[in-house]
Amino acid sequence: MEKKQNILWKYIIKYKTKYLIGVVAVVVIDYIQLIIPLIIRDITNGLTDKSLDENTLFSKLFLILIIGLSISVLRYMWRYFIFGTSRIIEDDIRKDFYSHLQKMTQSFFNKNKTGDLMAYETNDIGAIRMMTGPGILMGLDALLLTVFTIFQMMTQISVKLTLFSIMPLPFIAIGSLLLGREMRKRFKEKQEAFAYMSDIVQENISGIRVIKAFVQEGFESFEFAKVNKKNYEKNMKVVMLYALMFPMAMFISGVSITAVLGYGGYLTILGQLSIGEFVAFIQYLLVLVWPMIAFGWCINIMSQGSASLSRLQELFDIEPDIFDDTEHIEFDKTMQGEISLNKLDFAYSVEGEKVLKNLEAVIKKGETIGIVGKTGSGKTTLANLLLRLYNPPKGSVYLDGRDILDIPVAELRNSIAYVPQDNFLFSDTILNNIAFINPDTDKEVIYEVAKKAEVHEEVLEFPKGYQTIIGEKGVTLSGGQRQRISIARAFAKQAPILILDDALSAIDTKTEEALLGNLKEIRKGKTTIVISHRISTIQGMDKIIVMDQGEIKEIGKHEELLMLEGLYYEITQKQMLEKELLDKD
Ligand SMILES: Nc1ncnc2c1ncn2[C@@H]1O[C@H](COP(=O)(O)OP(=O)(O)OP(=O)(O)O)[C@@H](O)[C@H]1O
Ligand SMILES: [Mg+2]
Repeated sequence: MEKKQNILWKYIIKYKTKYLIGVVAVVVIDYIQLIIPLIIRDITNGLTDKSLDENTLFSKLFLILIIGLSISVLRYMWRYFIFGTSRIIEDDIRKDFYSHLQKMTQSFFNKNKTGDLMAYETNDIGAIRMMTGPGILMGLDALLLTVFTIFQMMTQISVKLTLFSIMPLPFIAIGSLLLGREMRKRFKEKQEAFAYMSDIVQENISGIRVIKAFVQEGFESFEFAKVNKKNYEKNMKVVMLYALMFPMAMFISGVSITAVLGYGGYLTILGQLSIGEFVAFIQYLLVLVWPMIAFGWCINIMSQGSASLSRLQELFDIEPDIFDDTEHIEFDKTMQGEISLNKLDFAYSVEGEKVLKNLEAVIKKGETIGIVGKTGSGKTTLANLLLRLYNPPKGSVYLDGRDILDIPVAELRNSIAYVPQDNFLFSDTILNNIAFINPDTDKEVIYEVAKKAEVHEEVLEFPKGYQTIIGEKGVTLSGGQRQRISIARAFAKQAPILILDDALSAIDTKTEEALLGNLKEIRKGKTTIVISHRISTIQGMDKIIVMDQGEIKEIGKHEELLMLEGLYYEITQKQMLEKELLDKD
């Protein structure tokens, strides 16, 4: 695989013109601000030997003013072009990161936790922004200023004095490099601690009901305190190092200024340096203090940014394991919905155990199929494969005679409506949840599918009806209501294939019967797969697949399967017995 382009360069090159304008502004500022000490030198010398008249004095002062004004304008430009562009890049990276996440498959989200991904989205991208804006600007400014100032000091004043005064610079550079390396390490640890903490918070909030039900608040708070403390410690390690940089730079520059004052004064006394030159030299030295501080600052920002960048780059380098070979996606309107399984074996990971073993089955167009089996027998896994949430092996799953690996993912998924076992709903209105496939769906159509899903009447009873918001900020629905809204959402899709994964488990038998009647009606001529634990749900289906430990044990109609007196018969007997016991109570 070819090495992917570093994401940062991609963006910087994209906005090169803006950066270039900003850089030109920095160069000009750094050059013209060094003219001021020279003017002051001339004024001082003129005043000392009394050769300066009023007019020349005022024209020189006027020049200083003009330079000051230009610097202000240019400073505005560099801020606008460099800081502004870093905000644009931040925005771009966010968007790209988000769409990258959307491309990732189930297995990626099993590995990468939500809190971790949130930390990338906030902290790491923020650190990269600091690098592409203030980081670049400071670094460039400090570098140019140092080079220009040293050049001016050497050519305009005294080579000897300059060499003497810049002696500490190499030490500062080496120190900065060492500190920078340490900073990068500490910052990476800090980001990891933050990501871990976000994850704990996210998980605890989503799982708050379980925590409360098991009265684990105290324990969880205790655990959180530990994670929080770790985050604090990692932060402190960064702060301590950073705190060291600034005073150190100040101290070193203070020492060198004092030394130069001594040596420069001595040269002036000897008459090798004019008073004006001495004054200008001190000014240049003061100019040099800022780059020293900026270097420390810049190294800090750059190390944080590059630590974040490498974290993010790793994520961007992950290729989705399910993608389309073909760019061109055409939706097949003539999809029949005939599914066939050919010796289907499947394991979630290479080293993992097989969870589906040698499945053979044909589901014809328009058939309604029931799948039963104990928990863990592989029912959901089969649905996952049909949707290609995971890839089945080549040549084992066919749709309309085409290997599903050869069907573009979008086309495949567009032809399947699916109610997942956890029937996830968004924190949005009921209407929008049902109209998820197309927000412009006609209201009448939504009401119709809700009626077919036997939930319409109940929705109307909510104070806000279909505009009721589900979730945190809105009403809490019962399990059965959630299931039926999810079913309505799937009905609204009108796809050639419909899969209900345990989607009727929380619905009472009477409502279920009505719903199944509606299902037959609206799915007439289209393929439907109903996964269930309850025999009563699937007994009327055209064909029933009985699964056990990843294998298909029996296939047939209800009556045929009963006659076999095998697994299906056993489950039926057990459930009848349970029902009788319940009815007695
Ligand atoms: N993402 C996954 N990674 C690894 N193993 C998995 C994954 N999902 C499920 N399994 C395993 O695959 C097997 C089949 O699980 P599956 O969810 O398909 O069962 P199921 O028949 O749908 O069960 P249930 O009736 O409880 O929903 C189980 O042993 C389970 O532990
Ligand atoms: Mg399941």
